[in-house]
This record gives sequence, C-alpha cells and structure tokens, in this order.
Amino acid sequence: MPQRLGIIGHPIGHSISPAFQQAALDAIGFDGVYQPWDVAPDAVGEFIAGLRAPGTLGINVTVPHKEAVIPFLDEVDDWAATAGAVNTIVNRDGRLTGHNTDGIGFLRALRDGAGFEPQDQAVLVLGAGGSARGVVYALARAGAARLTIANRTLERAQRLAQISADSGVPAQAIALSDAPNAAASAALIVNCTSMGMVHGPDETGSPLSAADIPPAALVNDLVYNPLETPLLREAARAGAAVLGGIQMLVYQGAASFEMWTGQPAPAPVMLEAATAAMRRRE
Ligand SMILES: NC(=O)c1ccc[n+]([C@@H]2O[C@H](COP(=O)([O-])OP(=O)(O)OC[C@H]3O[C@@H](n4cnc5c(N)ncnc54)[C@H](OP(=O)(O)O)[C@@H]3O)[C@@H](O)[C@H]2O)c1
Repeated sequence: MPQRLGIIGHPIGHSISPAFQQAALDAIGFDGVYQPWDVAPDAVGEFIAGLRAPGTLGINVTVPHKEAVIPFLDEVDDWAATAGAVNTIVNRDGRLTGHNTDGIGFLRALRDGAGFEPQDQAVLVLGAGGSARGVVYALARAGAARLTIANRTLERAQRLAQISADSGVPAQAIALSDAPNAAASAALIVNCTSMGMVHGPDETGSPLSAADIPPAALVNDLVYNPLETPLLREAARAGAAVLGGIQMLVYQGAASFEMWTGQPAPAPVMLEAATAAMRRRE
C-alpha cells in the first residue's frame, strides 16, 4: 500500500504542492501518493484525527487552516510556536507533531538558491504580515547583523522590530514609503508584502524601483505568482542578484518531505516541477 501524504486548505485547487511533492516521491522511488484535500473549517478537527491512522505519513497545511490545526496536535516545534502557525504535520505511530518549515525554507533558498549567507548582514524586510514574521525570526536565528522593517502600517513594523530585538537582532521600523532610502545600505532585500502578486491588492506595484536598489544587493521576492514579479524586474534592471519566491516555496516543501520520508529531498526535481506547474498557470 502506498503511504498517504497531502495538503489541506480551503480552497485548495491553486496549490502547486501536489505537483512538486509527487515529482519528488517519484524521483526517489518512494511508494507514496500526495494529494490535495479541500477541508471546510468545521471539518478540520475530524480530518486531523484521521491522520493518526497507520499509512499516513503526514500533510502540509495551507490557508486558512495553519492556526486552526494547532489544538488537534500533540506537540508543535519552536518555529511553529513562534509563527503561531503550522504548515507541516508529521504522524509517528499515531502521535502528531506540528512544524513550520517556512523559515527553514527561506534560509535554504537563500543559501542553496543564491549562495547568500545572512550572518552579519544588514537586511531590509518589506512587509510585516505573516510571512515577514517567519522571515524575521529566521534571519534572527541565522545571525543577521541588523534589520530594517518597512511596512505600510507602521505599528505592525514596530511590533515585528520588537520581536527581532527580543531575538537578539537590532531592528528599526520604518514606513514603506521610506524604504527607498533604507535600501542603499542593505545586502539583502526581502519582499514580504503582497505587492506584485497576481489577484493581490496591487498586481503591478513594486515596493522599490531600480534606482533605489544597490547593484551589490540580493533581492528576494517571496511573491511567486507571477514567477517574474515587478520587483524582480526592477532589481534585474539595477544589476542586482535576484531570487524568486518559488525557491522558498520549494525549499519549505523539501523540509516537509525530509521530515516525512527521512530521506534527502531532490530539490532540483522539485524546483523544476514547481516552475513548470506555475508556467502552466501563467
Ligand atoms: N514563497 C513562499 O513560500 C511564500 C510564503 C509565504 C507568503 N508568500 C507570499 O508573500 C506575500 C505576503 O504573504 P503574507 O502571508 O505575509 O500576507 P499578509 O500576512 O496578509 O501580509 C501582507 C503584507 O503586505 C502588505 N500589503 C498588502 N497590500 C499592500 C499594498 N497595496 N501596498 C503595500 N503593502 C501592502 C501588508 O501591509 P499592511 O500591514 O499595511 O496591511 C502586509 O505587510 C504573498 O504574496 C504570499 O503569496 C510566499
């Protein structure tokens, strides 16, 4: 019998995780089936209880269930506890543990996808929502020298700067409109806003233009739909190095894959399958 794996969300049709997770299982010859499950909010508890049965290795969790699953688990790791959100559940002999691999995926994308090591570096984080929280915590754990957090709503940036400071990394909160001035001294610029996202609040917008971006910087846009975002185009025009959000998406999935299977994830296969799945949608 193949092992059961998958992802829950509501809706779930947009997810490309089935495409790249199944490609990874097939590539290493693992006998598993990864499928999408549309689970309504009032059915989450019952669904999670069903994961304890033998034959299910675990699942990914996406919007809107990342917080809702927590009360149904036996334990959550540090990353999930800090984020207040779970994106991976592992079943070990009927015991369910919750994890959040976004921070690990973000760091692996920087290192393996762009050869960038955040230790002792100055970083500009654009945005202060859920993904920015994971990114700030990951940068703090990786030993970044200092952060500047720029957000449309200044108070949210201030709260996140405090979290960074509490984790040992000094951080300054500024308005998003001041980000162009702050960009000059950043070695890494990470976009965690929804600007530039298809069907988002500002599809064609970019938080920075080419003139603001130092050529020596690495610009990482977490937005992966489209693959080539307005910010990445501006960064390329500035001569900066660029890293698309698809890399973090794949590496967070790779970390989940390794927890379930105990085997190294074939990241290049996953990246190729994820990129192909996105291209089919563009
Ligand atoms: N690559 C990956 O693996 C990955 C993982 C997670 C998220 N993402 C992507 O990252 C993006 C943000 O996700 P999230 O979960 O952090 O969302 P979120 O919690 O809703 O936060 C949205 C952020 O975008 C800002 N924002 C929204 N509309 C804006 C506008 N018109 N102008 C300027 N700023 C605006 C918000 O500012 P305010 O605080 O002022 O509202 C907030 O900082 C999404 O595109 C998501 O798909 C990618």
